[in-house]
Amino acid sequence: MTDPIATTLAYHARTKHHLERYAKGPAGLDWDAQPAAFRHWIGAAKQALPRDVEMTGIAWPQLDQTRPPQDFSPASLGSMLRLCAGITAWKQYGPSRWSLRAHPSSGNLHPTETWLISAGVPGLADGLHHYQAFDHSLERRAWNDTAEPGETAIWLGYSSIAWREAWKYGERAFRYCQLDMGHVLAALTYAAALHGWSVRLVNLSPAETAARLGVDRAADFAGVEAEEAEVIVSLQPNQTGTKAQPPAWTHWAGQPILLDPKPMYDWPVIEEVALATRGGLPSDSLADASPAAQVKSQVVSLSETAASQVILQRRSAQAFDGVSVMPHAVFRRLLAAMLPGGSPVWRMWPHAPRVHPVLLVHRVEGIKPGLYALPRSEAALADLKQTMPDLFTWTPADIELPLFQLMAAKAERTARTLSCHQDIASHSAFAVMFIAEFDAPIQANPAAWRHLHWEAGMLGHCLTLEAEAAGWRGTGIGCFFDDAVHEVLGLEVGEENAHYQVVYHFAIGIPVDDARLTTLPAYA
Ligand SMILES: Cc1cc2nc3c(=O)[nH]c(=O)nc-3n(C[C@H](O)[C@H](O)[C@H](O)COP(=O)(O)O)c2cc1C
Repeated sequence: MTDPIATTLAYHARTKHHLERYAKGPAGLDWDAQPAAFRHWIGAAKQALPRDVEMTGIAWPQLDQTRPPQDFSPASLGSMLRLCAGITAWKQYGPSRWSLRAHPSSGNLHPTETWLISAGVPGLADGLHHYQAFDHSLERRAWNDTAEPGETAIWLGYSSIAWREAWKYGERAFRYCQLDMGHVLAALTYAAALHGWSVRLVNLSPAETAARLGVDRAADFAGVEAEEAEVIVSLQPNQTGTKAQPPAWTHWAGQPILLDPKPMYDWPVIEEVALATRGGLPSDSLADASPAAQVKSQVVSLSETAASQVILQRRSAQAFDGVSVMPHAVFRRLLAAMLPGGSPVWRMWPHAPRVHPVLLVHRVEGIKPGLYALPRSEAALADLKQTMPDLFTWTPADIELPLFQLMAAKAERTARTLSCHQDIASHSAFAVMFIAEFDAPIQANPAAWRHLHWEAGMLGHCLTLEAEAAGWRGTGIGCFFDDAVHEVLGLEVGEENAHYQVVYHFAIGIPVDDARLTTLPAYA
């Protein structure tokens, strides 16, 4: 294999959208030949999960508080899976019908597959199960002859089917798989917190992760779309649990269905970058010294809506009204949630922040329209100040949060242009560009490229849920003109090994719903 660092940097460079040309993708789409939305495992024993959502009495602002852990059971795990990976509604327009899930996904294509590994849970067979969102069931994929003596344990594993995204988005698709992965991990963390569980990353090698999830079993995947192993996490009934590893398997069952019988394109750079970015998880761990948690608790949450309801009703806005002004308290709470300590997500991902929000504020009470930065670490504040152009003033814009005005500006048109001319960026109350510390972490470990996208996806998910809880709505924006953003921010343009690169956009506003769509229940 060629140098994984060079492969990773080259993939990122060639999948940039430019004002004058988009990254390579299909010339046309046959919407009637979309890959199947759900992968079924034929021949795997199926267990239906209870469909009730539990923990419905906890208001959104209480979600962060520690609570007694629920016992692991089909009911509690079924409840959690509904809230992080399940279907939340079906939408219908004319003859078309599609499902929405607890987490957003680029193009609603949902490349991420969820796996559950259970040991010693009453009422649930031990082993590796594929979570089937379609009917909220488990398909038992692997097990061992003899149960290993030990404590009850639950792990969640994730794999990506890149073709689901590549079908529509071509070469840039692997970026979207990784952004989605970040949303998925954050969604899991919130759903777990509601049940009194915390989520811990399990440090396995990429080969071990693939083996535990069975996605390395080439013969099983012969002739069907491959799955790329992403990560395994453990569910802990308390904040300080151990990090035990899931077992290896002796027995396997089931065959994955083919999703797309007539793929019209092939994007080999996706396999190349997937291989190049296989690697270990970050090993640093931050002491939770940030004042964000305290700030957040002071910042009024306007919502007493149940957390489970917030999660189930979450949607991405397809359009914003372009006039509503966001109350200052809501704005501050959204920002605080993105800082270390400001969300349960940052206990699951306790690593030095490497992705930093830069905001284009259009309509926020008490905040002058303009360009703002929210560096998520002291080091990033110092470094961004030094790297960005001198004309940025870095005027403190909050008494507690590290929010700085870089320049006053009416920037709606700029926001729209930078986000592939999408109105959601200009009609929002504010839009975000997530800027990643890029070259240094990738030089140290090319897998950091995935992790930067995960971190950006997690940040997006914090915004999504906090906005929903406050009666606002967010939308992830994967389509942006990379180097045009760098130019506006005075960052390096066109360098493969740039110090900083933009990895994701986001916008928040008051949604305008499409009245033509009918909403149907998730599981009738
Ligand atoms: C990584 C990512 C990128 C996205 N990019 C865009 C985008 O560029 N424009 C847009 O309108 N929506 C975008 N979305 C929103 C999706 O279209 C939306 O999540 C999907 O249609 C499912 O709808 P839901 O979030 O309401 O469940 C993105 C979502 C994610 C997670």
